[in-house]
Amino acid sequence: MNARTAEHSRTVMTDLVLPSETNPLNNLFGGELLARMDRAASISARRHSRRIVVTASVNHVAFNKAVPLGSVVTVEAKVSRAFKTSMEIFIDVWVEDRESGNRSKANEAIYTFVAVDETGTPVAIPELIPETDLEKERFAAALRRKQLSLLLAGKIKPNDATELKALFE
Ligand SMILES: CC(C)(COP(=O)(O)OP(=O)(O)OC[C@H]1O[C@@H](n2cnc3c(N)ncnc32)[C@H](O)[C@@H]1OP(=O)(O)O)[C@@H](O)C(=O)NCCC(=O)NCCS
Repeated sequence: MNARTAEHSRTVMTDLVLPSETNPLNNLFGGELLARMDRAASISARRHSRRIVVTASVNHVAFNKAVPLGSVVTVEAKVSRAFKTSMEIFIDVWVEDRESGNRSKANEAIYTFVAVDETGTPVAIPELIPETDLEKERFAAALRRKQLSLLLAGKIKPNDATELKALFE
């Protein structure tokens, strides 16, 4: 299986915030943003693996800035690391200023997707090659995040989270 670059999986989705997608403060509803991020991440995971992919976990979400009604929102997803059958996807969310056209970072999230066959059984995926400094930084930390996610899900024991434990030693 040929390794693929992180850039190969880059997925960019731009859309407006409409009235039906807002909360009582007229800002984008959190669940709507989660859905947009899930869609972009899913396409990104599919581009990397060329397989059916399913969301295994949402590892981190930070709603740092409210996104007002009428905003132009860009969700950018990229695979940050591929393991045996699972992939970590990093999602950056940008909001465009109407007057200046400048983009500012509003939110970010990290999702884990698993490639599966038609029966839902996990299947092996290609390796990921990080190229830029940011891609290399995210790649390096992804193993610790995978261990934390598996630990919180009760799927591994603290002693098995070797790289995560090393952070505290
Ligand atoms: C995701 C799913 C395929 C994993 O199945 P599983 O039986 O746990 O399979 P495995 O134990 O072999 O794990 C497969 C991979 O997922 C990873 N994984 C499983 N749970 C994880 C979690 N909570 N966090 C991070 N990674 C996880 C495993 O580490 C493994 O990765 P690797 O092969 O790259 O090392 C299965 O749980 C599933 O189908 N879930 C439903 C998915 C879905 O419907 N999502 C939409 C939600 S509405």
